[in-house]
Amino acid sequence: MKHILSLLEYDYDSLEPYIDRQTMEIHHKKHHQAYIDNFNKAVENYPELKNKDIREILSNLNKVPEDIRLSVKNHGGGYFNHSFFWKILKKDIEPKGEIKEAIERQFGSLEEFQDKFKKLALSHFGSGWVWLILDKGKLSLLSTPNQDSPISDGKIPLLTLDIWEHAYYLKYQNKRADYIDAFFHVIDWSNVNKNYQEAIK
Ligand SMILES: [Fe+2]
Repeated sequence: MKHILSLLEYDYDSLEPYIDRQTMEIHHKKHHQAYIDNFNKAVENYPELKNKDIREILSNLNKVPEDIRLSVKNHGGGYFNHSFFWKILKKDIEPKGEIKEAIERQFGSLEEFQDKFKKLALSHFGSGWVWLILDKGKLSLLSTPNQDSPISDGKIPLLTLDIWEHAYYLKYQNKRADYIDAFFHVIDWSNVNKNYQEAIK
């Protein structure tokens, strides 16, 4: 089995004006595809990895043969992180359900959550990702460098934002803050709530 790029469940322009069509198309068809191609190359001679789910592989990185571990971490991380990211994007969905209550309990309010998320995304140096995760039963924010994924540290991702420049530079250039503000309009809270319900089972 070759790992393949999944189609998005929405059109490239459906997050406009917050995330533009051109960025979405290049991000998905070129960047995400390249991570998957490079991941496939890395595992070419390892049939057991060719047939395993990427989430499973990244959750057990120490079991990946050492000579390809870094490639799997980088390209496999890019493969998984983007797949996860696409699924939590949708325009104009209000926060709801248990995740909303948990955020309010943990952060005080949705506004305070967004404020902390934004500060973390702005203070992260270079490329990477910002995550809302469930760790030992508690919500928590963290950022990871490069294509590192929190699932490799046993943490459960609930939502994420790609803060590589390729995710926003065409529309926002160096204004990462504006991109983060725009992101708050395109979080699919329904799917984030599903991720949370799955995580607390
Ligand atoms: Fe990306």
